[in-house]
Amino acid sequence: MPGDKALFGNAVREAKKLVEKVVRPGNICLDATCGSGQDTEFLAQLVGANGRVYAFDVQKVALDQTLSRLNSGNLTDRITLIHDGHHHLTKHVSDQLSCVMFNLGYLPGGNKQITTKPETTIEALEQATKILRPWGLITMVIYTGHPGGEEEAASVEDWVSDLEQTRWIVVRLTYPNWQQYPPYLLAVQKRGGVM
Ligand SMILES: C[S@@+](CC[C@H](N)C(=O)[O-])C[C@H]1O[C@@H](n2cnc3c(N)ncnc32)[C@H](O)[C@@H]1O
Repeated sequence: MPGDKALFGNAVREAKKLVEKVVRPGNICLDATCGSGQDTEFLAQLVGANGRVYAFDVQKVALDQTLSRLNSGNLTDRITLIHDGHHHLTKHVSDQLSCVMFNLGYLPGGNKQITTKPETTIEALEQATKILRPWGLITMVIYTGHPGGEEEAASVEDWVSDLEQTRWIVVRLTYPNWQQYPPYLLAVQKRGGVM
């Protein structure tokens, strides 16, 4: 029956819904924190055989997991895996990007000490904005439940608050009645005509 289902999923699901609205076959996208590769796989499916997805992670174990996932889906032809911090984004990528996905925090099931950090996350965001195409999208899934998570969230909140309103659309999706630090979503879209 129409109107008889949940309108909203978790922050990861809602990020993907936005990304689906923006990314077209043949586009170039970036996963700034590939982890086990779920977002990379999702982007690879959206861009199709003629598109490209760059995927960063500082941990080889994460890149290995991502590669294995992509191998299973026959998607490796359109992927560039980069074993480096996302704050070196423009050292590796100069293409105009349609979408950049950040999923902050630590690798689930991995070393919880290796997390994204405020300074490097902000630097990566700065660089991403420079090569994002008009109407391109940046999504950030943000976790506050681990040590350093609140500080990183605060830095990212400060950063998005400073984005000029005439050039950027910024939205936040939070889950006020969820228990135990639910991840939430920040999304930033570059307005058309803005480079
Ligand atoms: C929450 S996980 C990402 C989950 C992933 N999106 C997925 O679908 O499985 C965060 C990842 O960010 C990585 N990371 C931490 N600092 C980083 C940095 N400076 N640059 C790139 N990746 C980083 C971690 O190694 C970890 O794998």
